[in-house]
Amino acid sequence: MPSFHLSAAHLLALVTALPAVSAFWRTECGVIQLGRVDPIINPGNVSGHVHIVAGPNNFNISSNYDSLQKSLCTSCTVQADKSAYWTPYMYYQKADGTFVDVPQGGVIVYYLGRGKGNATSFPPGFRMLSGNTSLRAYDNKTMTYGTAQEAPRPVSDRVSFNCINYAKPAPETPAFPAAMNCPQGLRAQIPFQSCWDGVNLYKPDQSHVAYLSQIDNGICPPTHPVLLPHLFYEVYYSIDQVDSSDGGKFVFANGDSTGYGYHGDFMNGWDPTVQANAVQNCLESSGSGQIDDCPILKANNDAQSGSNCPQQPALVDEKVTGSLSALPGCNTPTAGPGPAQMKVCPARLITPNTPTDGQTRQIPTPGKTTSNLASGSSATYKGCYVDGTNGRALSGSTFADDKNMTTQTCGAFCQSKGFNLFGTEYARECYCGYAITTSNATQSDCSMACSGDMLAYCGGPNRLSVWSISAASAPLSSTSTSTPSATSSPNGSGPTVNNATYQGCYTDSVSTRTLTGYYNNNASQTLDTCAAAARANNLAYFGVEYGAECFAGNTIASSASSGSTACTMKCGGDASGKTTCGGSNAISLFKNDAYVPGSNKQVVSVKTSTSSATYQYAGCYTDAAGQKRTLTDYFFSDSKMTVEMCANACFGRGYSFAGTEYANECYCGGVVKNGAVLAGGGDGECSMRCAGETGEFCGAGGRITVYERSTTAGRRRRGRR
Ligand SMILES: *[C@@H]1O[C@H](CO)[C@@H](O)[C@H](O)[C@H]1NC(C)=O
Ligand SMILES: *[C@@H]1O[C@H](CO)[C@@H](O)[C@H](O)[C@H]1NC(C)=O
Ligand SMILES: *[C@@H]1O[C@H](CO)[C@@H](O)[C@H](O)[C@H]1NC(C)=O
Ligand SMILES: *[C@@H]1O[C@H](CO)[C@@H](O)[C@H](O)[C@H]1NC(C)=O
Ligand SMILES: *[C@@H]1O[C@H](CO)[C@@H](O)[C@H](O)[C@H]1NC(C)=O
Ligand SMILES: *[C@@H]1O[C@H](CO)[C@@H](O)[C@H](O)[C@H]1NC(C)=O
Ligand SMILES: *[C@@H]1O[C@H](CO)[C@@H](O)[C@H](O)[C@H]1NC(C)=O
Ligand SMILES: *[C@@H]1O[C@H](CO)[C@@H](O)[C@H](O)[C@H]1NC(C)=O
Ligand SMILES: *[C@@H]1O[C@H](CO)[C@@H](O)[C@H](O)[C@H]1NC(C)=O
Ligand SMILES: *[C@@H]1O[C@H](CO)[C@@H](O)[C@H](O)[C@H]1NC(C)=O
Repeated sequence: MPSFHLSAAHLLALVTALPAVSAFWRTECGVIQLGRVDPIINPGNVSGHVHIVAGPNNFNISSNYDSLQKSLCTSCTVQADKSAYWTPYMYYQKADGTFVDVPQGGVIVYYLGRGKGNATSFPPGFRMLSGNTSLRAYDNKTMTYGTAQEAPRPVSDRVSFNCINYAKPAPETPAFPAAMNCPQGLRAQIPFQSCWDGVNLYKPDQSHVAYLSQIDNGICPPTHPVLLPHLFYEVYYSIDQVDSSDGGKFVFANGDSTGYGYHGDFMNGWDPTVQANAVQNCLESSGSGQIDDCPILKANNDAQSGSNCPQQPALVDEKVTGSLSALPGCNTPTAGPGPAQMKVCPARLITPNTPTDGQTRQIPTPGKTTSNLASGSSATYKGCYVDGTNGRALSGSTFADDKNMTTQTCGAFCQSKGFNLFGTEYARECYCGYAITTSNATQSDCSMACSGDMLAYCGGPNRLSVWSISAASAPLSSTSTSTPSATSSPNGSGPTVNNATYQGCYTDSVSTRTLTGYYNNNASQTLDTCAAAARANNLAYFGVEYGAECFAGNTIASSASSGSTACTMKCGGDASGKTTCGGSNAISLFKNDAYVPGSNKQVVSVKTSTSSATYQYAGCYTDAAGQKRTLTDYFFSDSKMTVEMCANACFGRGYSFAGTEYANECYCGGVVKNGAVLAGGGDGECSMRCAGETGEFCGAGGRITVYERSTTAGRRRRGRR
C-alpha cells in the first residue's frame, strides 16, 4: 500500500510557516528506494550512508538525466517530473547500542517562486546538494551573499526541524529539538540554492549554485545571476512510532545525532516543456500549491503514484531496516561539535532489475484487449466496473496479494474455481463470479497498477478491472441444455433425490444468498453430493447452483422466490447429463427430509472459499474477556456471523485458528493462548446458534467454538519428516 499519507494538518503547517506570499506547487512523493545509493556523490558505487529516495522506479547508483527519462513511473505524483529527490534515512540507537530504523512518513517537494524576477527552469543534467553531511554544530560565521539592503544570513539556517505536536506547537529548531518528544512525528526541512552560475550543471563543491540572501527569499549574488525555482523538501520521520523510553537517541544514517548534518540531493529529471510551462504559469503568475490548480501539472498527475510506483528493491546487498547491530556502512554516531569524518565502506552491489525501461502502462480496451492467463487460457477485458459497498459485485472466490497480484494469476485462480468472470481491484484483490451486474465506470477509474505487475492495471478504489475467461476449460458452460422438468415441477414432482423433496427453482443473488450456512464448489457436483453435505451438517435445505455450487442452510432467505426459469445447467458430476443443477443466479432447491430439528452438531469441517484449505472443528474452548482472549490476533463481529464467514476471514489473514463466540463474534489467532482449555462440559457448552445461520453453533458467553486450519499440503509435509 502507498507508504505515503499525510494529514491536511501537516500540509497546513508549512504553508502558514512560509514567510513571503508567493506562488508555488508541491508534489507528494512515496519512497521509491531505501539504501546506500547516491548517484551524485558516489556515482557508480555504493554510497556512504542510507538514503530515502523519492522519484523514478529505475533509480540506481549511476542514474543521470537520460536514464531517469526511461523510467516507467515516479513515486511523486506528477509523472512528467522524473527528478530524483533524496535525504538521509533515520535510526534510533537504543540504550544497549543497537539500532532500529525509524519509519518515514513520506516526502513533500515544493517548488516556490522566490527571489527577484522570474525563475528559469532547471536544465537537463542539472543536479545539486544542499546541506553538509560532515557538520555537527551551528556555524554562525559562514553567511549567504548579502548587501546593505538585502541582509545575509548564516548558511546553517538552511536546515530546520519541526517537532510536530498539534496540542502544543513548538518553534522550529536548526538541529534536533532538545527533547525528541513529538507526538505527530518530526519534520525535517531543507531548502535549496536558487541562484545558478548559468554555466555548470554540477560542481562537486556545489559552487555552481548559491543560496538566496535570506535562503528562502532575497537576492542572488552577481556570480550566480540566474534565478532557479526555489526547491524545498519536507521529510517526515515517524519518531513517535519508535519506543524511545529506554533513553537511547535518534541518529541519521550518516551518524549525525545532532541534525546539523542534514542534507538533501536533487537530480533534475523534468520533461523540459512541462517544467517550463509550470514555472511560467504556476510559479510566477498564480499558484495555490495544489497540483489540480496548475493545468499542465494536473494533466500529468497520478494521484495513485504511491501504489502505482511502489518502493523498489534495494540495490545494495545489506540490511537497512529492522533491528541492526550497527548503522549500514561504517558510520558511528557523533555529536560534534567538530565536523565528522565521512567514509564510504564497501558493500556488494545487486544488479538492478529494470524490465520497465522505455515501457508504458496501457489502459486496456474493452472487448479488444486480451490477456494470457497463468492457466494457459486467455481472457478478454470487459471494462472498469463499480464494486458495491454492500456486498461484492463479484462474490465468488477471492484472494488478495499485496506484492504479487496480476491479471494472469487472478484469472487462472478464478478459472480453477469454475468461474467465468474475474476482476482485480485496488492493486491487490482478486474476485471471481459468474455475472457482473453493477454499472460500468469511467475507464480511467481503474488506474491502480497491479501489485505484481507495474505494466498492467488492477482496478482502483471500489473499481474492478473485469475480464471474461474466453477459453475456459471449466467443466460447465452456459450453453448447457436443460431438463425442462426442473423448472416446472415444484415440491416433489421434479428431480428426485433420496430422502429429499424438490422445492423448485429459486432465485439467488450474490449479495443476499438464498441459503447460507454451508457452501462448496466442486466441478464434480451432483444433487446427491450436495444432499450428502446437507445431511452431514444436519441442515434443513440444500440446493445446487451453476452446475457446481452446493449451498445448504436451515432457512430460505426471504429475498428468494421460487418459479425461476433459469435452472438450466447440467450437473457437473453427472456424466449422463440428465440432472439439472441450477443456473446463473438460480438454485435447484431441496428440503432435506433427514433433517432433525434441534439436534444440530458443530460443523466439523469448513471449507473456505479463499483456498483449498479447510478448518476442522477443534472443540469448545474456554475464553476470557479483556487481555486474556483465547485467540488474540484479529476480531470482528457481524450480525450475519457464520462459521464459514469467520473461517474465511481468519484464513484470508493467514491465521491457523478461527473461533466463533456469543453468536456473532469471530476471533482469529496463530495459537490458542492464555491457558484456554476444552470446556469441561464438552461441545454442548458452545450452545449459541450463529447469528447468521441457526444450523450452526457459534460459542456462548465465555465459550468459543474453535476451528483449526488443515491443508493436505501441511499434512504431507509433516508426514515426510
Ligand atoms: C541504471 O539504470 C539505467 C536505466 O535503467 C540502466 O540503463 C543502467 O544500466 C543502470 N546502471 C547500473 C549500474 O545499474
Ligand atoms: C515574469 O513572468 C510573468 C508571467 O509570465 C510576466 O507577466 C512578467 O512580465 C515576467 N517578468 C519579468 C521581469 O520578466
Ligand atoms: C557565534 O557563535 C559564537 C559561539 O557560540 C558566539 O560566541 C558568537 O557571539 C556568535 N556570533 C554571532 C554574531 O552571533
Ligand atoms: C562541509 O563541511 C566540512 C567541515 O566544515 C568542510 O570541510 C567542507 O568543505 C564542507 N563541504 C561543502 C561542500 O561545503
Ligand atoms: C567501489 O568502492 C569500493 C570501496 O571504496 C572499491 O573497493 C571498489 O573498487 C569500487 N567499485 C567500483 C566499481 O568503483
Ligand atoms: C509471484 O507470482 C509468480 C507467478 O505466480 C511466482 O512465480 C513468483 O514466485 C511470485 N513471487 C512472489 C514474491 O511471491
Ligand atoms: C458505460 O458504457 C457505455 C457503453 O459503452 C458508455 O456509453 C458509458 O459512457 C459508460 N459509462 C461510463 C461511466 O463510462
Ligand atoms: C413448495 O414448498 C414450499 C416450501 O415448503 C411451499 O412454501 C410451497 O407452497 C410449496 N409449493 C407447492 C406447489 O406445494
Ligand atoms: C434415506 O432414509 C432411509 C431411512 O429413512 C435410510 O434407510 C436411507 O439410508 C436413507 N438414504 C440415504 C441416501 O441417506
Ligand atoms: C469434489 O467431489 C468429488 C466427488 O464427490 C470428490 O471426490 C472430491 O474430493 C471433491 N473435490 C473437492 C475439492 O472437494
